[in-house]
This record gives sequence, structure tokens and C-alpha cells, in this order.
Amino acid sequence: MGPVTKRLFVKNYGCQMNVYDGRRMADVLAPLGYAPTPAPDDADLVILNTCHIREKAAEKVYSELGRLAHLKRKRRMLIAVGGCVAQAEGEEVLARAPCVDLVFGPQTYHRLPDLIARAERARTIDTEFPPEPKFDSLPEAASPQGVAAYLTVQEGCDRFCAFCVVPYTRGAEYSRPAADVIAEARRLIAAGAREIMLLGQNVNAYHGAAPDGGEWRLARLIRELGRIDGLARIRYVTSHPADMDHALIAAHGEIETLMPFLHLPVQSGSDRVLARMNRRYTAAHYLKIIGKLRAARPDIAFASDFIVGHPGETDEDFAATLRLVAEVGYAQAYSFKYSARPGTPAAEMEQVPDAVKATRLAELQQAIEASQAAFNRASVGRIVPVLFDRSGRCGAQAAGRSPYLQPVHVDCASAAEAARLQGRIAPVELIAAKANSLAGRLERAQAAPA
Ligand code: SAH
Ligand code: SF4
Ligand code: F3S
Repeated sequence: MGPVTKRLFVKNYGCQMNVYDGRRMADVLAPLGYAPTPAPDDADLVILNTCHIREKAAEKVYSELGRLAHLKRKRRMLIAVGGCVAQAEGEEVLARAPCVDLVFGPQTYHRLPDLIARAERARTIDTEFPPEPKFDSLPEAASPQGVAAYLTVQEGCDRFCAFCVVPYTRGAEYSRPAADVIAEARRLIAAGAREIMLLGQNVNAYHGAAPDGGEWRLARLIRELGRIDGLARIRYVTSHPADMDHALIAAHGEIETLMPFLHLPVQSGSDRVLARMNRRYTAAHYLKIIGKLRAARPDIAFASDFIVGHPGETDEDFAATLRLVAEVGYAQAYSFKYSARPGTPAAEMEQVPDAVKATRLAELQQAIEASQAAFNRASVGRIVPVLFDRSGRCGAQAAGRSPYLQPVHVDCASAAEAARLQGRIAPVELIAAKANSLAGRLERAQAAPA
């Protein structure tokens, strides 16, 4: 007799790694009879896979738990909190939210079957950093991911930037063995993936055990993945500038399937602030890396993250950030007000007033938007390969991503043609830049899609 079907609802917050982890949790629970359900209302088990990076992200969890407590009064369900909030403040979650049955950290979700059995009897918490890597105990990744898939290759961080919780919530750096990564990539491709985004909190610090007994850095891993038939696009995220080694920079010029778009967070353009942040590079060093990458791959474009109002940031420091934004000409960037996180060194420093942070954020976002808009406008008139991964808003429309992750939509001759495009890469002439996407025209002359 097969296992009874129970319904599982996972809600992910935070970074791409949580999306990946959420799927792996579903893989762990499938043998117990859990099948995904799209809403918490009829779930037997709800998992909130949480993020602790900024205060706002962490607070969202408690408001969601308030709603779930209400549901739980109406029907029997288990409520679990996983991810980075669980790791950072697990006991507090249990104390603040009586509806929670289970708290587990990012490094213990391979133990979910046992943890759930225990949580059925009494409230349970497991936020250990176990000696066994969870990847060794996880079943093969099985949840369908579609055309563009995530694959975690590295986890945790040893860099200890002054503002950041990740080294505390995810633990020490760990790289998965290259053979495991390659095997998982092959399975994803067999299941329909054309693009793989390699994930790690500090992904370019990757140094995994190699099949030949040595160790591979990220460039070598990408090179091997680049040989797999059917894999058309490779990306990696998120990188630390100081870990961009020569081989990785060179790989951008040598591996055709490595996409010419790199997220390389700089955080600030001021050397004084960068030093306070413990980032271990200067603005000049960062710009030099950007220059080398452009020399290796002239069509490369960049994305970044910025923090405004980090402790110690003056108007002059902030002006340096604006200058760097203008100099690089980012295709995309995320910016955040500094949020003091308990237990991190920057939280102990003298804080910048919130009103100052808000003014700087508005100014930076304006500069970033202008930069993004300029990049999108400059794309108009070009013919780019688009990987189609969804249907567009109207019937005979298809939508996908350019090499620069720009959303692109095209009008098709029929709904059938739009359907045929799914999972394919086809050349598209970009004809107009909208606010958050580009309109394109299928190049029918070369219509034999890859
Ligand atoms: N590993 C990546 C960043 C991961 S966190 C790197 O080294 O760049 C994602 C982004 O969140 C960071 O790039 C940073 O811009 C932002 N962030 C991290 N901690 C923050 C904090 N305390 N307040 C505001 N933003 C923060
Ligand atoms: Fe956080 Fe990234 Fe710094 Fe690591 S390198 S501490 S993840 S900001
Ligand atoms: Fe958030 Fe943890 Fe990712 S704090 S950004 S979910 S590593």
C-alpha cells in the first residue's frame, strides 16, 4: 500500500537558495506521502522558509504566523519554521508564536522526517550545525524546476562582513563535491532545464572535491558543466569581488554558455565604508575587476547590491557610491537601507539616522533606475537569443529572458506557436523598452529554434 497523501505548503522568503532549499524539503518529504499544495488553507504541514537578512524580512514571518494561527484553529495542521530566522532566533520563534510546532535551521532539513515525527508529539527545535553535510543525506533532487533551474553548489560564508547575518545563519563555507553537482545538473537537464543558475552565498569561493582527488574552483566546475549536451546557459550567484580569481575571469571569455551577465555586489563606492564593512577590497580594486571582465567578454553587463546608511557613512561616502554607479553603468541593481542585525559588529557601531538613510536610498534608486533604463534602451534594435519559459499575458504571446535576464515578450502567430516556443531559445529583435521588460519580434527568417 502506498503512503497516504498529505498536503505540504512551503513558503519561501529571501534569496534563491531558499527557493532551492524549499524544493529539497519537498523532496525529503515526498517519501512520507507529502505532496505540494498551492495554498496553506488545506495543508497538513506548512513550512515557512525564512530570511533574516534585514529586520523587515524577519518581521514578515511573525505576521504570517499570525495568519496561520488563525487557520490552525479551524483545522489540524503542523506549522514549521525553517531557514535563517529559525537559525538566528529559534527559541524566540517558539516563545512568540505558540502555533509553531517545529523550528529547524538551514543545515538540518535532511532530518525533517524524524523532526516531524517528534513535532507530532511535542514542540521541537533543531538548529544544530551537524557534522554530516546535509547534501549527503538528501534524496536526489526530484522536484520539477522547468526551463531555468537552480543548483546549490556552495553554502555558508566565512567572510564576516560587518553588517551581515549569513555567516551566523548558514554557518561555515561548504562546497559540494563536483561529481554530485554534475550528476544533479544532468538530472535537471534530463528533466527539461536549459539554463542552470549555480547558487552559493559566496559562490565564487567554491572549492569542491574533484573526481580526480584534487579540488576544483568555480571556473573548472563551470568548464565541466559547459561540456554537458543540452545545457545552453550557465549563471552563478552571488559572488564576492575578492573571490573573482583569474581563472573565473578568463572563463567569461572562453565558455560560450556562461552568460555575459554578472551579479557582483559592491555594497558601497567609498573605501572608508568598505573597510568598515570588512569587505576587503577598495572601489579601485572593484573597478579593476570589472575592467578585466570587460576585456575578457566585451558584451558583459553587471548587476550589484548596495547598502546605504551603513554605520559611519557620510554624505561624502555616499557621493562616492553615486560616482561608482555612474562609472560602472549597471544593467540592474538592488539597494537597501542598512538594517542593524543582532549579533553583527556593525550593529554595535554608531548608527546613521533613518531619515538620512531614506533620503540616500531614494537618490540611489533614482540613479540605478536611470542606469537600468539606459541599458534597456540601448538593447532596442539588437537581436538577442531569448530562452522562452512562460506564456505571455495575452493568448498568443510568449515570454522569456535575454542573456541579461531582461524579461522579453513576443507576439506569436497563434497560441500554438507560443506553446511550441516553451523551453526553446530563439533569436528575437528587441523593438521597445517598457518599464520592466522589453518587447521583441521573433526572427522568423531563422525560425529553426535551438
Ligand atoms: N553574499 C553576497 C550577499 C548576500 S546578502 C555578497 O557578499 O555580496 C544579499 C544582499 O543583502 C547583500 O548584498 C547586501 O546588499 C544586503 N544586506 C545584507 N545585510 C544587510 C543589512 N544588514 N542591511 C541591509 N542590507 C543588507
Ligand atoms: Fe554576507 Fe556576502 Fe559578506 Fe558573506 S560575503 S558575510 S554572505 S555579505
Ligand atoms: Fe536571507 Fe538566509 Fe538567504 S538570511 S538572504 S535566506 S542566506
